Amino acid sequence: MKQYEVVIIGAGAAGLMCAATAARRGRRVALLDNSKKVGKKILMSGGGRCNFTNRIVEPDNYVSANPHFCKSALKRYTQWDFIALVERYQIPYHEREHGQLFCDHSARQILDMLLSECEKAGVSLVTDCEIQTIDYSAGYRLATRQGDYETNSLVVATGGLSIPTMGSSGFGYEIARQFGLKVLPVSAGLVPFTFSDRMKGVTERLSGIALPVAISTGDRTFSEQMLFTHRGLSGPAVLQISNYWQPGDTIRVDLLPGESAHELLGLWKKEHPKGLLKNLLARRLPKKLVVELMSLYWSEWSERTITDMPDQLLKGIADHLNGWLLKPAGTEGYRTAEVTLGGVDTDELSSKTFESKRQPGLFFIGEVMDVTGHLGGFNFQWAWSSGYAAGQYV
Ligand code: FDA
Repeated sequence: MKQYEVVIIGAGAAGLMCAATAARRGRRVALLDNSKKVGKKILMSGGGRCNFTNRIVEPDNYVSANPHFCKSALKRYTQWDFIALVERYQIPYHEREHGQLFCDHSARQILDMLLSECEKAGVSLVTDCEIQTIDYSAGYRLATRQGDYETNSLVVATGGLSIPTMGSSGFGYEIARQFGLKVLPVSAGLVPFTFSDRMKGVTERLSGIALPVAISTGDRTFSEQMLFTHRGLSGPAVLQISNYWQPGDTIRVDLLPGESAHELLGLWKKEHPKGLLKNLLARRLPKKLVVELMSLYWSEWSERTITDMPDQLLKGIADHLNGWLLKPAGTEGYRTAEVTLGGVDTDELSSKTFESKRQPGLFFIGEVMDVTGHLGGFNFQWAWSSGYAAGQYV
């Protein structure tokens, strides 16, 4: 029987941060992972460059049934704390649009930095360690393929369900249920949309085309690039809005963000009375998209000049351009999702320590709980902040 003051399950972003923080405080820490290689999601993140945080992090960048839950941890370990760590390790980085911070060279540098923090603090990292059972009576007893572990503080950092080939598992949710904690329904987040029927053909024919749009659902709008794919729609604007989309919802795509299509068509009618709508639209939108829009909605006007088109019709066209209503058939699911929405209910946890309110010594950190960030480095920041907060306490 191996005894540790803290046992952490899951050596991903949150688990590594928590382990290093707790061990620096002098705690004896074992960090167990069922994979042979740890931090796989860090390595594949940000196209291999790891978007490790964002210059501006607000609670509003997170989706959770309790929008206030994330505030305390985000305040106690901020993006500046993580940036300071990155700078201490002299990892070169750069800022991209919307404040996103990426490594100049490789995500491996972020993983190596965290592993080095763990090693320096004396964390025992055990890989290829499948956990078979967890029992509790006064303390926790874990039976694993690498022997039994005993601890008073058990931290669950097993992440979400996205990218099953990367070792994702629902194990964290099982542990929560075993100890009577509520788990909110989970679904794929930051994920492309799929379409059926006519729109499927449209997106297939337009695949590879990207354009700036503003996409909305409910009271949320994201202004970024949208990409047509063989299966539907992707690109940053689509991934962002997917966190707020429910099956059956319609999304609204403004193809001319920041511009009144009504005024634009009125201007064209005055300045180019003999112009064809399709040619005029192609000044602002990709030509192939214009062809598809014309054939979907305005085919009978394809060869008529804009002067021929009644004002009422032009108003309808303008409304369409500033608010193309689309109904996704679904999402690509966990296969391509960056994150998992939902998870362990934050009402069950202390927002300061991440300890379960009903089960002493049991902690949940990172993506396994019901806190999901926007695209842009916010999910890693949540892993760092929640990992640090629990690490300070365990
Ligand atoms: P994480 O998934 O990192 O770690 C969980 C760990 O638990 C893994 O090591 C796993 O092997 C282990 N585990 C699972 N089940 C287990 C079991 N039964 N027993 C033992 N161990 C177990 N975010 C961001 O901010 N910027 C970015 O650039 C990106 N890019 C990105 C790209 C792609 C392709 C994906 C899929 C995701 C991102 N993300 C991201 C999201 C980010 O990777 C994610 O939110 C964090 O990794 C979550 O950190 P956790 O530590 O909670 O889980």
